[in-house]
Formats: sequence, structure tokens, C-alpha cells
Amino acid sequence: MTVFCLGSINADHVYQVPHLPAPGETLAASAVQTGLGGKGANQSVAAAKAGSVTQHIGAVGADGVWAVDALRGFGVGVDHIRTSDAPTGHAIINVDPQAENAIVIFAGANLDQSAVDIQAALATGGAGDWVLIQNETSHQVDAAKAARTNGVKVAYSAAPFDAEAVKAMLPFTDLLLMNEIEAAQLSDALGVKTADLPVAKVLITAGAKGVDLLDTKTGEIVSNPAFSVDPVDTTGAGDTFAGSFVAGFEQGLSDVDALRRASATSAIQVTRVGAATAIPDAAEVEAFLSAQ
Ligand code: RIB
Repeated sequence: MTVFCLGSINADHVYQVPHLPAPGETLAASAVQTGLGGKGANQSVAAAKAGSVTQHIGAVGADGVWAVDALRGFGVGVDHIRTSDAPTGHAIINVDPQAENAIVIFAGANLDQSAVDIQAALATGGAGDWVLIQNETSHQVDAAKAARTNGVKVAYSAAPFDAEAVKAMLPFTDLLLMNEIEAAQLSDALGVKTADLPVAKVLITAGAKGVDLLDTKTGEIVSNPAFSVDPVDTTGAGDTFAGSFVAGFEQGLSDVDALRRASATSAIQVTRVGAATAIPDAAEVEAFLSAQ
């Protein structure tokens, strides 16, 4: 079985700054690191490191060969990454000593996906497979429809949050992932309680409070507390959680086991600087869980 991920691929430029810059302020960074990021790439790496066969669907520019090589190096299938005339996406990420961040993204090739290529990629999928989509590429609904046509289940990570984008995806979504603020914003925008959303499962993360997985048909909620760690950079933590969690579903883990493993994976990830490069492999996660 396979986890597909239609998702962004970025070069992340991570600056360690004394505080997040105020309007008009010029700040000196104490360190800078460049590496693979993009919510989609982070999710694919997390799914692959969790042990799922993972196929990334996306786009880079001619300057993005290194990013494709990096994804391949993390065990992600790259046959469905196209080369666009637009430059590879990038992100400017400021991180303060409290591990808070502020991110500016330039989408570039991420907004130049091909419906034909997406359909061809998802035609290789079938029952038992999942596609994970977030809001940093074009053609999200096309991908969800193609997935449904082929019996592939759809997970939508509603980040960066946009209520209209979520609304368009809801009819084709099996699992919706949001944080608690986004869940409240979506309820306000749609005038619908989270429990009444027309998707089978809704996962809501609440930072240090942990995570809830709601079954909208039965009303059952499965919860997992957050693990206590000292974060240095929270960039990509939500993506790490999403990729690991969907991999758990694809591998047939129980809800509680999938939640626990995803929580542990993102807990380790935030103790390191960077996004995709900071994601731990399955052995590290097992060791972390055993030590709890
Ligand atoms: O969620 C973190 C990611 O958001 C970063 O890797 C950055 O590239 C942006 O897409």
C-alpha cells in the first residue's frame, strides 16, 4: 500500500534571530541553515520515515534537482515530481530562542502542478492507499477527485489555513487535520460544529494539550497527550505529525497507536533545527516511546 502526497517542495532558509522582527526592524541572525522543506515534502518524508511506501506528487523548477535528490535520499518516490518553468518554492523562516517562528513563503513551482500528471500518478493507486494534501499547491481538488475515482482515501491537512480551500475539499475528504484555532475558524466560516463536518474523521491538534481524533459518525473521541520536550524549532512539526499519522492509518495501526507514534515523531522533530531534515526515523521513534 502507498501514501501519496500532493505537496509543496521548498528550500527552507532558517535564520536564528534574537526575537521575531518587528515592522521596519533590521535584525542580525546568529546562524542560518538551508535545507529541504515545504509542508508537502515534510509530510512525505515523515510518511516514508514511518515506514510507508511514499510517492510525492509535486513540482520544482530547473533549480530544484537537489530537492528531488534529497527526497529520494529520504526514501520518498519522486517519479511524479515534474519540472516547471517556475523556480522552486522557498521559505524564509525566522526562529527565536523560544522556538517560535515566522515564515514567508514564495510558492513558485508549487502552484504549477499538472492535472494530467496528478491523475496519472493517482491512477497507480487503489483501495488501502491514502493521498495527503495540504494548502500549498494548486490542483488540490483535482487530486482529491482523482483519488476518490481510484478508491484512494483522502487526508487534508488544512495548512496554511484558508476556509474557502477547506470548503472546496470537504466533499472529497476522509480525514481532516487542523489545529484548534483553525477548527474554530472553520466552524465560524461554515456555521457548522466540528462534530457535524461532512468528513468521517477530524483530527485536531492543540499543542502542549495534545491531540483529539473525532469520529463524526459515532461521536467517539480518541485523545493522546503531547510528550514533554524542550523545543528548539517547531517548523514542520504539524507536517511531521500529519505524515506520520496518515502512514499509521495506511499501515493499519489503531487510532491510538497512530496518534501516539505521530506525537512522538513530532516531539523529537521539534528538538532539532530544520524541517524535513529534523524528522526522526522509525527506530528513533520506537526508542523514544520505549523510554516513556
Ligand atoms: O510547515 C513548515 C513548512 O512551511 C516549512 O518547511 C516551509 O517551507 C513552509 O512551507
